[in-house]
Amino acid sequence: MKEELIALKSELAELLERVNDLVELNDLRAKFLGKKGKLTAILRRMGELPQEERPFLGQLANKIKEEIEFAIEEKNEKIKERIKKDRLEKEKIDVTVPTKVILGHRHPLSIVLNDIIDFFYGLGYEVVEGPEVEWDYYNFEALNIPKDHPARDLQDTFYITDEILLRTHTSPVQIRTMERNKPPIKVIVPGRVFRSDAVDATHSPVFHQVEGLVIGEDITMADLKGTLTAFAKAIFGEERRTRFRPSFFPFTEPSAEMDISCISCNGKGCRLCSYTGWIEILGCGMVHPNVIKNGGYDPEKFSGFAFGMGLERIALLKYNIDDMRLLFENDLRFLSQF
Ligand code: DAH
Repeated sequence: MKEELIALKSELAELLERVNDLVELNDLRAKFLGKKGKLTAILRRMGELPQEERPFLGQLANKIKEEIEFAIEEKNEKIKERIKKDRLEKEKIDVTVPTKVILGHRHPLSIVLNDIIDFFYGLGYEVVEGPEVEWDYYNFEALNIPKDHPARDLQDTFYITDEILLRTHTSPVQIRTMERNKPPIKVIVPGRVFRSDAVDATHSPVFHQVEGLVIGEDITMADLKGTLTAFAKAIFGEERRTRFRPSFFPFTEPSAEMDISCISCNGKGCRLCSYTGWIEILGCGMVHPNVIKNGGYDPEKFSGFAFGMGLERIALLKYNIDDMRLLFENDLRFLSQF
């Protein structure tokens, strides 16, 4: 029996050599150590031995059992290690292999917005934002746009309920900003706005505006003109001439629109400027006393100016693009030019 036990060890060693995976190893374990295994079979026959030989063989059997267990465990570790190594080898990525990397970059709308923000940061403005789903009160009422004003037309405004809508401009953030802060205020407000328009070269139901609001003591039209003239030159070039035309907005008084000399013909007159030499870039004005009051301030004490522009329009002009749809279609042949 002693020889059998010792032979078992060398038999195992030989078989272990040939085992390659965990399934085979499990089979081998069962074959030697399992209930119907070889070692158990030998131990069953212990009873047949003379009494005096049993302790010695019992000890030997235990030792051999431990050795077998140890050898199997060792092999188990080895196989697992190899599997791990194989996997790492398979998943290895050679980061030094040369390849053509197409780098992403900013969208023209983002480039222009960053330029606008940069300019106003330089003058100490803060950037604030407001909700796209807005109360009728902020979008219209508080901005001095009464219930029967044509701008509220169902044809222009996406209403959600009688009192809730998708904001049609960034101007409601004027009121929200005044409500939350004390003057002086100097903010610009970039954001998405919505109007029930059909898509064409110059219209989209979703577009972007940048609003500006300045409130303080003794703010005058001269501040408005100085600021916006410097702005137009910063974005469109120092050589641009600017002019302010009287206009009307319910939330400003007086109101104006600002033109720049045509970027295409430099003022001589061409198709882009409808042969006027001028191109409109924004609306602006002195904040209406009712709006200042609705913001929570005393219009006798505080005054201010505001302006609003369409970001797409600025981008189209700046990059000489003739169709707004190009800005939304995400065609890489177009986008990669910027
Ligand atoms: N909210 C106006 C629009 O959507 C743009 C505008 C004009 C904003 C004059 C202003 C402003 O703040 O003073 O057409």
